[in-house]
Amino acid sequence: MERDFMREKIKVGVLVSGNGTDLHSIIDASEKDVIDAQVEIVISDKKNAFALKRAEKHKISNYFINPKEIKQEEHEKKIDKLFEESKIDLIVGAGYMKILSDSFVNKWYGKLINIHPALLPSFKGTSGQEDAINYGVKISGCTTHFMDNKMDHGPIILQAAVKIYQNDNRDELANRILKIEHQILPRTIQLFAEKRLKIIGRKVKILPGESWIDKYEYYPDVLYSEGY
Ligand code: GAR
Repeated sequence: MERDFMREKIKVGVLVSGNGTDLHSIIDASEKDVIDAQVEIVISDKKNAFALKRAEKHKISNYFINPKEIKQEEHEKKIDKLFEESKIDLIVGAGYMKILSDSFVNKWYGKLINIHPALLPSFKGTSGQEDAINYGVKISGCTTHFMDNKMDHGPIILQAAVKIYQNDNRDELANRILKIEHQILPRTIQLFAEKRLKIIGRKVKILPGESWIDKYEYYPDVLYSEGY
């Protein structure tokens, strides 16, 4: 099915803390018209996050909001205001390492997604790849999910399973998982843009539509969940 180029793009706001390769995957998919979404604004809680430079390069509004020396409530008020002013349809946590408060999450619930470098509910937190290696699991992967008010907990949208090899170190595994994150993150955004994600309690039902498996590159040794 050809994409309808007259279709309006949803406005995406991205929260980052680091290198920003996940952010880049969204910008790239948007610029290539693979997704009906456009990154309007990028906000970081880290001044030197390379993600901000990526945004700058693509002429996307970008802000560092310093969480230090102000209360979390104040910090999130600033973020919320910027997203409201940009009329954001969807917020994406793309390597954002700061926990969001209940009031922020409740306000944006259903329009707030996150990507995590493990198969949730395993290996939550900020070192999902290393924790998986240290635990000795043979398969890990990545997950996209709606955020709720518990860390790495909300309803799961997509998952993809990646093998762990005996001699993997943290960075090797993280890079292999990242390659797949760069597929399932834009895919998740596209499903959202097509209004194909229906939250039913803890579960996300993916409404019928075209698949990316036949359309875009996929890795035969990766298991992609339904919806990719
Ligand atoms: C990604 O692997 C993302 O899944 C992870 O941070 C990395 C950011 O990479 N997020 C978490 O661990 C959240 N708990 P990037 O800065 O290159 O996009």
